[in-house]
Formats: sequence, structure tokens, C-alpha cells
Amino acid sequence: MHRIILDTDPGIDDALALFLALASPEIQLEAITTVTGNVDVEHTTHNALALLTLTGRTDIPVARGSREPLVSRRLHATHVHGDHGMGKAQLPPPSIQPVKQHAVDLMIEKIMNNPGEITIVAIGPLTNLALALHREPSIAQTVREVVIMGGALLTPGNVTPSAEFNIYADPHAAHVVFKAGWPIRLVSLDTTNRTPLTQARATALSQGESAVKTCIRQMFAHYFDVYAPLYGVADFHMHDPLCLASVFQPDLITWQPAYVEVELQGALTTGETVAYFKGPQAATPNVQASIAVDAERFIQLFIERVGTT
Ligand code: BDR
Ligand code: CA
Repeated sequence: MHRIILDTDPGIDDALALFLALASPEIQLEAITTVTGNVDVEHTTHNALALLTLTGRTDIPVARGSREPLVSRRLHATHVHGDHGMGKAQLPPPSIQPVKQHAVDLMIEKIMNNPGEITIVAIGPLTNLALALHREPSIAQTVREVVIMGGALLTPGNVTPSAEFNIYADPHAAHVVFKAGWPIRLVSLDTTNRTPLTQARATALSQGESAVKTCIRQMFAHYFDVYAPLYGVADFHMHDPLCLASVFQPDLITWQPAYVEVELQGALTTGETVAYFKGPQAATPNVQASIAVDAERFIQLFIERVGTT
């Protein structure tokens, strides 16, 4: 059993990762913490609350997190996810409120009260994690594991030629998180770009009248009808769902130890995740990096679980 805190910026693929978590008996979702990323934290929090309302899981606490990156300017991805983050989805009004606690405080409390038990699954910019480390450094020794969707190690970025969105949106936070000495598994574009959901499969997956399927259909309506033709993209990238699946099925992915640093000074390369797989730096790896993935097994797993909700 994996007791997780999902740190997220929903986000179409974040919503799909949440649906997968809720459909997976190996996962106990302890809390959702939100962050500014794909859209601002007001919208990501609203979306998290509305998604829990939609799925009838209003027992799961949602804590609102950071509005601003540590140093850099806010960056959104509304062109991919729509103005409010959920494509064209018509979500129900949330029937719950966020908890009073800030995301950073909730994260610290959960980890410190449950030594060795809590996994953080971070599928947005890493601002909340960096602030939690700053406030309570000993979470690094107390957490079970940190599984991050972010970075582009041996493959081009998706925001700039060298940087991936979650890292680029708060590179200083990512720098802190990679230096913290806690156990990290890093699910980067090196594998998430290799798990496309084709439009045909996306259409098949979202056939049906359940609330979840209607939501998926409406989210994809923005992605495939507006974003994909404009940017010349054929498939949907399952970044965050792959990260979530790797928590409970780590053998979907081939992992390799690496030492990863974030470029903070680059004139053109800020947010690049520079990875050493060999040499003296690699002798003290700070992440297990995803380098290959069984894409078909992952997509089948996703369709089997989320396609029946
Ligand atoms: C990441 O960026 C966001 O737009 C997605 O939700 C995912 O977490 C992929 O680069
Ligand atoms: Ca995300």
C-alpha cells in the first residue's frame, strides 16, 4: 500500500493521474496539495475540489499551496490545458472547501506524523516541496519517497529546447528539491514522451456516460480540437499518469541512478535538468532516473482502470 500526497496543478493530465490514483487499490490518497502551474493556484485548487466532488471522494482533504514560484515569474500552460486548466470540462461546483492549513504545513505534518510511510507524488512545479524542506528539513529523512514528473535528461524540453514545464516553471524550487538528499524517482520526458495516448484510443477511452468519462471527453475536446491542430501534435502525452502509475508499478519503467542539477544561470537554458550518468558526480546519485518504459503495458493499465470508472 502506498500512502501518497498528490502535489498537483490540474491540468488535464493531472486530472487523469488523479482518476488513476482513485481507481488503484495500491494507492491510499491521503491529501491533495495544489500549486500554481498549468493555471494559477486558485484554479488548480478549484479544479482539485471539483474533481473530488465529481468522483464522490470528498473525504480527501485538499490544501491550497503556493501562488508564486520562489524567484522566477509565474508561467502557465493554458494553451495546452485551457483557460481554467480543465479543457472544456464542465465540472460540478465543489461541495467541499480546502482545509484551513496551507499545503506546505499539511505536507510537513503528514510526513512527520507518519515516519517512513508517506510518498509525495509531485506532478506540478516543485514550489511546495522546496518550501516544506525549508520549513522542516528533517522531512527529507522522514518521507518514504518522492516521485516527481519533471525534467528532460537526454531528450529535448517541452517549454524551451532544454527545459521541461514543471522544472522551468520554478527552477529554483527544483534546485532545492534535487539537493535535499531524499529518495527521488524522476519520471521525465525521456519516458513520458514515449507513452502517447493516440486520439483513437482517447476517443475509445472516453465513450460512455459516466461522470468521469464525460469529464475526460470534454477535457480532450480542448486538447485534440484546439491545441493539437494548432501545435501540430497528434497524440496526448500521459506525463502525470505515468508518474502516478510508477509509484505502485515501478517495473513499468527502467531506472538508472543519476546526479541531476538544474541550470539556473543559462541565458537560453534556464530550467535544464543536467544529468550525469557517469563520472565523479554520478558516484553520488541524487535521483533514480526513468530511461525506458513499457509504454503498451502502461497504456493498457490506464485504460483498464480508468476506462471502467
Ligand atoms: C508537465 O507539465 C504540465 O503541463 C503537465 O501537467 C505535466 O505535469 C509536463 O511537462
Ligand atoms: Ca501537472
